[in-house]
Amino acid sequence: MEDSAEHKDISYIVKVTNNCNMGCQYCYYRHNRSKSPENRMRPEVLERTIASMLDYNTDYANFIWHGGEPLLMGRPFYESIVEIQKGYLRETGKEIIITNCIQTNGVLLDDEWIDFFVENDFNVSISLDGFFDLHSMNRGTNREAFDAIMANIARLSERGVPFSVLTVVTKETIGQEEELFDFFADYDISSFGFLPMNYGDEEDSLSPDDYGAFLKRFFELWITKGKMNISIREFDEFMRGYLGQEQRLCHHTDLCDCYFTVTPTGDLYPCDCFPQNEQTKLGNVFGSIADAHEANRRFFAKSHGMPVGCKGCEFAHICNGGCRYHRWLKDEEYGQKQYYCESYRALYGEIAACLSVGSESQQSG
Ligand SMILES: C[S@@+](CC[C@H](N)C(=O)[O-])C[C@H]1O[C@@H](n2cnc3c(N)ncnc32)[C@H](O)[C@@H]1O
Repeated sequence: MEDSAEHKDISYIVKVTNNCNMGCQYCYYRHNRSKSPENRMRPEVLERTIASMLDYNTDYANFIWHGGEPLLMGRPFYESIVEIQKGYLRETGKEIIITNCIQTNGVLLDDEWIDFFVENDFNVSISLDGFFDLHSMNRGTNREAFDAIMANIARLSERGVPFSVLTVVTKETIGQEEELFDFFADYDISSFGFLPMNYGDEEDSLSPDDYGAFLKRFFELWITKGKMNISIREFDEFMRGYLGQEQRLCHHTDLCDCYFTVTPTGDLYPCDCFPQNEQTKLGNVFGSIADAHEANRRFFAKSHGMPVGCKGCEFAHICNGGCRYHRWLKDEEYGQKQYYCESYRALYGEIAACLSVGSESQQSG
């Protein structure tokens, strides 16, 4: 039994289905997904998934509904999620704050879905790589599906639903930063974050140089276009760290071992990006979550502490070594600096210079 001082609340990234209505060329999950023949989560697995986290956690329970494409499960599935969660709290009297987030490609969203998300306080995150050419290039989206996504984004804005956008940066994005920035601004997309396209191999993945140049250019645009009401995850996070505030992005915390991927059959694995195989399997929602958590701690044990290469880096206390998956990619041991270290250093140097000029001019003003 674990020491209660060690107990930390866990989060689930729930693969409610492996099925998807898109065929994104770069999708890590196409290769990564478990080989289970069961592609949709059954009601008893859903019930156990929810109860297992609510039994285990003490204060907060964070569910990230994911896939595949999670909206393919249909609204009744999500209505049952809310029912199960409410029923659990009612029956146990346990006081725990539940958050639900959904990560979707946005094609199937409609007014009924939006009503449901508003009524039940779901955080919505939409995958959008940019304007039509950029988005369709790797995601294979046709014009009709793209127009549906954009109409759904407009619906969310009109309804005042807070949502964010997740943008995969690919080789094709490089050099089109201004067009991308203006596109987001034109559509009033005011909260987004980036994922460098990474396939686990250097040839196809976005290079650290390209990603660094992209981030720096985007930061310059953010400053020069005066659109600082737009929240860009990577910039906000650095500034929080720089100003000594609490970091929120999982990459910058030491909490990877609190994140689990749950497959449609209830199998538990580390964070979504890692391969799912017998070596990385941590347990199942029908088994002991304490044991699975312990297995996840062992999986990430070598990732605690900083890689040698980070010694002397002025930003190390902010990035905390960065995304563990991007560290693991280098040697499957976490021993080296993360794959995109130089990209973030390029961005952080730029932001830090900007913040120090700002504070100097305030002092002299
Ligand atoms: C696997 S999808 C599943 C959820 C949903 N179907 C969606 O499109 O948001 C989750 C996110 O991972 C991103 N993604 C997929 N493959 C990636 C890769 N190789 N590198 C970076 N991000 C990737 C997708 O663009 C999407 O934003």
